[in-house]
Amino acid sequence: MSKRIEINDLDVYYGAFKAVEDVSLTIEPRTVTAFIGPSGCGKSTFLRTLNRMHEVIPGAYVDGEVLIDGNNLYDPGVDPVAVRRQIGMVFQRPNPFPTMSIKENVLAGVKLNNKRMSRSDQDDLTEKALRGANLWNEVKDRLDKPGSGLSGGQQQRLCIARAIAVEPDVLLMDEPCSALDPISTLAIEDLIEEMKQDYTIVIVTHNMQQASRVSDRTAFFNIAGTGKPGKLIEYDDTHTIFTTPSVQATEDYVSGRFG
Ligand SMILES: Nc1ncnc2c1ncn2[C@@H]1O[C@H](COP(=O)(O)OP(=O)(O)O)[C@@H](O)[C@H]1O
Ligand SMILES: [Mg+2]
Repeated sequence: MSKRIEINDLDVYYGAFKAVEDVSLTIEPRTVTAFIGPSGCGKSTFLRTLNRMHEVIPGAYVDGEVLIDGNNLYDPGVDPVAVRRQIGMVFQRPNPFPTMSIKENVLAGVKLNNKRMSRSDQDDLTEKALRGANLWNEVKDRLDKPGSGLSGGQQQRLCIARAIAVEPDVLLMDEPCSALDPISTLAIEDLIEEMKQDYTIVIVTHNMQQASRVSDRTAFFNIAGTGKPGKLIEYDDTHTIFTTPSVQATEDYVSGRFG
C-alpha cells in the first residue's frame, strides 16, 4: 500500500502569486516525513499539492511533477478525486461530520466510492478502521452516537479512521495535533508510529519535539520575506536536521532563534 513520492521542480501558485518555489524531494514508503518552517513559508500549500487539494482554490495551480510510484498525479487524464482517495488527508482541526454517527463518519469516504456495501462489510470495515486509528476500544459501544460527542483527541482519531477506511497509500497530516492536549497528542504520535508500517506519512508540524519524535526525515522550508515564495532549504534525516544541519538557517530555526 505504502508508496514512494517524488516531487520534481514544483512551483505552486495562487493566481499570480508564487507561494512555493522549485521544490524537489523524494519521500520513501513506510517513512514519516516532517515539514517544518516558519508560519507562511508554504508548508500547508505544498502539502495540499501532494493530493491535488491545492487546485480546488480558484486560480490555484502548480507547475512541475508529483510522481506516486512513478505516475505523475498531474498528468492529463488523471482524476483528482481518485488521487484524493489514494492520498488521504487529516487537518489541523478535527472535522468529523457533526450530524453523522461515529460509524457513519468512518464510512463517509467509503460510501462516496462504493455505495453498495453489505451491512456486515460495513461493520467489519468500521471496526478495522477504528482499530487502525486506535479508537475502537473507546467507542465500540457507542458507534451510533454522534461523532461530535467525542473529545478533541478522539475526534482527531475518528478523522484518521475516516481517512484510512478508504485504504489510502499515503496519509498527509497538516498540524494534526495543534488543537489537542498533550495526552491526545502523544496518542496521535504513537498512532503515527504504528501507521507508518502501512502508509507513507507526511506531517506538517510547528512543534520541533514532535518532528524529532515522530519523523524519520525532515524538510525545512523558509521564506525570504513577505510576498516572496517559500523554498525548501534542507531535507535530511531528522536526526541530522536537528543536530548537524548543513545550512545556517536550518540551525537557527531548529534551535529556536527564529520562527
Ligand atoms: N487560499 C489562499 N489564497 C491565496 N494565498 C494563500 C492561500 N492560502 C495560503 N496562501 C498564501 O500562501 C503562503 C503560504 O501559506 P501556507 O501554505 O498556509 O503557509 P504555512 O502552512 O507554512 O504557514 C502565504 O503567503 C499565504 O498567505
Ligand atoms: Mg499551515
